[in-house]
Amino acid sequence: MSVVRAVVRGCGAYLPDNVVTNADLARRVDTSDEWIVSRTGIKQRHLVSGNEKTSDLALNAARAALDDAGLDAGDIDAIVLATTTPDETFPATATTVQAALGMTRGFAMDIQAVCSGFIFAMATANSYLITGQAETILVIGAETFSKILDWEDRTTCVLFGDGAGAVVLQSSPGSGTNADRGILVSKLHSDGRLHDALYVDGGPGSTQTTGFVRMQGREVFRHAVVNLTEIVREVLDEAGLGIDDVDWVVPHQANKRIIDGATKRLGLDPAKVVITVDHHANTSAASVPLALAEAVGDGRIKKGDLVLLEAMGGGFTWGANLVRW
Ligand code: ACO
Repeated sequence: MSVVRAVVRGCGAYLPDNVVTNADLARRVDTSDEWIVSRTGIKQRHLVSGNEKTSDLALNAARAALDDAGLDAGDIDAIVLATTTPDETFPATATTVQAALGMTRGFAMDIQAVCSGFIFAMATANSYLITGQAETILVIGAETFSKILDWEDRTTCVLFGDGAGAVVLQSSPGSGTNADRGILVSKLHSDGRLHDALYVDGGPGSTQTTGFVRMQGREVFRHAVVNLTEIVREVLDEAGLGIDDVDWVVPHQANKRIIDGATKRLGLDPAKVVITVDHHANTSAASVPLALAEAVGDGRIKKGDLVLLEAMGGGFTWGANLVRW
């Protein structure tokens, strides 16, 4: 059966220059390198400085992905940008990136699914591509999470970082089998009842302030391990594949212990899991494309590999994309 597949043509990433270590944070709040590393695996994070905005990070990642694909802005039909930290309440940060790239046709929109944002953006772009509404889409995950952190709250401020990653997806004919290149399965979930476990205590429609991240860490941890294990099984079941068929898992980089917990439950070989949380921390919607760009850039992920991307975030939202590279 002939089908249309959304094939990854290129990927790229961008991190702000400013590196902040755990020791740097220990000078700011009552914490220690030992506590942060043992509870989370995080050693450092990149944070924006001066006037750097989410759109600046996104633009750099987008340019890198376009270069990698050998395309330019004129080839793009749409931008789907996942972020929780838009430059402004409106317009969408995607439109700022559109203008900066010199793209004068097509459309650009933001997606809000917090740490699952890139997974949701990939799934959204996939739908546009397989229904023929676009042929080439730039999918970006970009965050300046440092701007919504309470820097007095040691239980949250040590966990996050800033950055951006992007992929170029292009429609391509496939045979409808798992041998096709491109997105093979996409699954998304949310459960709004879990709002209080992870949210921002502000917004234009409530406080007219931006607000700060508030989190019940243990509750998030418990749900993350269960939901991420289940979403991986769900996606593989739909494809009729097993965990051993997967070449690489690129998980959301929230916490090394969450990743290890899900890896163990799945019976997944830890050597197949891409880890960047130690040097990026949790960059929310940027974490999966940043990890992806690193593993593609250093030659681990190669053409033809079966790659599973998964994430969970505030909402709660969670999802996964199974992609033949
Ligand atoms: N430095 C030192 N001590 C700290 C710090 C810190 N940065 N933060 C908390 N503590 C203290 C607490 O105050 C508490 O002290 P107490 O026992 O005297 O009250 C103690 O450490 C233990 O606190 P817990 O919250 O029970 O620690 P826990 O082992 O659960 O680890 C953590 C906390 C790391 C937040 C963990 O629950 C976690 O990773 N949860 C998942 C959160 C997450 O990843 N969120 C990201 C967004 S969601 C997502 O992306 C999936």
